[in-house]
Amino acid sequence: MKPQVVRECSALHSLVKSLHLQNLRVGLVPTMGALHAGHISLVKESLKNSDWTIVSIFVNPTQFAPGEDFEKYPRTLENDLALLEKENGNQNIIVFTPSADEMYPKNFFTYVDVAGVAKPLEGQFRPTHFRGVATVVLKLFNMTQADIAFFGQKDFQQVQVIRQFVRDLNVPVTIQMCPIKREEDGLAMSSRNRYLSADARQRALCLSRSLKRAKAMILEEGIRDRATVEAEIREILTHPKHSIDYVAIVDPETLLPQEGAGIQLPVAILLAVRVDDTRLIDNMVIE
Ligand code: PAF
Repeated sequence: MKPQVVRECSALHSLVKSLHLQNLRVGLVPTMGALHAGHISLVKESLKNSDWTIVSIFVNPTQFAPGEDFEKYPRTLENDLALLEKENGNQNIIVFTPSADEMYPKNFFTYVDVAGVAKPLEGQFRPTHFRGVATVVLKLFNMTQADIAFFGQKDFQQVQVIRQFVRDLNVPVTIQMCPIKREEDGLAMSSRNRYLSADARQRALCLSRSLKRAKAMILEEGIRDRATVEAEIREILTHPKHSIDYVAIVDPETLLPQEGAGIQLPVAILLAVRVDDTRLIDNMVIE
């Protein structure tokens, strides 16, 4: 069965109200569409942990800066619905796919601006990004009244930003982070992977390869000098057609460098690299 598709906030509100009146647990999987196996793993997790799953599909304009890929971001609703249909055995998936005007009507003036964990890394390279993410995600929490929401670890900093505003603003939702889904050769799944040419796709493997190498250095070879590990990662990522935005070896909670020159566990390693014109991110938490 095709999942039920809802396009208007008012219709979603009525549906959600009736689910809550029946004491049903609602899970939310926020997405921008162009669904892949990573998204589907979040949907499966939500179906396991809630009675109803709302999958939002909305390419959120406020999280893209001018010159980023908002216009070219893949919009594949028919294919997304076909993928979700396969998971909709118990007919308890709702797809919420509003228009931009529905989400941001005329005279929209309120944004969620998270400090702290939103400021380094992505926050430096995409200064308006998390403001857009936090705003749309809070709106989705309010609209769906979800009990639990599922996000992929691939956007590790995004999950920390969402956790921060949920805590700060007392939003009554549980945030569950799910593991990164990788292609067989290690590339982290992303809707943006489809921008890569065959050659760039091959070179993009340097991200996961560098993380694997860093893990081996830290856990197997006992190397704890941050600069040594970072230099090795950078060497693996370096190519004339790549440009590295950041290699960060940081505290997983604060996303700031740990004190001193050494690495203490747990540690998070986060990467952002432009492979040709495509900006890719990946990360690993080493416990
Ligand atoms: O991770 C994403 O796809 C987006 O940032 C999200 C959470 C759906 C908000 O637009």
